[in-house]
Amino acid sequence: MSKHDCKLMLALDLPNRESALDMLTKLRGNLEWVKIGLQMYLAYGSDFVREVADMGFKIFLDLKLYDIPNTVASAIKSLKGLPISMLTIHTSGGREMMKFALDAAKETNPDLLLLGVTVLTSFNEDGLAETGVSLPPAKQVEHLAKLAVDCGMKGLVCSPLEIEALRKILPDDVKLVTPGIRPAGSDANEQKRIMTPALASEIGSSYIVVGRPILKAENPAEAARAIIDELK
Ligand code: C5P
Repeated sequence: MSKHDCKLMLALDLPNRESALDMLTKLRGNLEWVKIGLQMYLAYGSDFVREVADMGFKIFLDLKLYDIPNTVASAIKSLKGLPISMLTIHTSGGREMMKFALDAAKETNPDLLLLGVTVLTSFNEDGLAETGVSLPPAKQVEHLAKLAVDCGMKGLVCSPLEIEALRKILPDDVKLVTPGIRPAGSDANEQKRIMTPALASEIGSSYIVVGRPILKAENPAEAARAIIDELK
């Protein structure tokens, strides 16, 4: 059995506020965590985040902040009072940016878990080399993950295929949040490197992020329940 508790998060990737709230009404009681990304946040803003929190869900706000340290810190301070539990920043912003972000988060919301994004999974070796990074993506992920943890970050977003390597080099208490999850037998959509909920949990994921297998299910609550059962 895995040493880590693993929880389900829904990626709330829907075209508008009404369909999102309708989906969450169906899922109430069967789901604890919701990931709100740039698409919905930029369209509906903080009021939408509050609405989702008022329905009883915990929120992971996936804004992937990346800018000079002072600007990232100021952006985090602008989120004061917003009921979010997790927020993403890019670890490639470097040590100073991560430290500024961590200090700002502590001051703004001491319970906020900052999650570091390492190398976007859309990069292959050539694409990364073209940006001037000569390490292969898997090595660059490890490099940035170690840097992030050294700066005091307590959570990272990673592909399920990176979990095993990261668990070998990171302290146990670092949370790993993993999209690219598909229950056995479900449509992979365009995701290329996928893993089942049970296996991701077994090898050390702390939170799995699942979108379409729930959003497009005939019965989303049932789909979410089946995934949670698989995690137990
Ligand atoms: O629908 P699906 O389960 O593929 O959704 C996965 C979610 O995780 C989406 O919100 C997607 O943007 C996000 N994500 C991902 N792969 C990454 C990083 C984020 O699928 N490497």
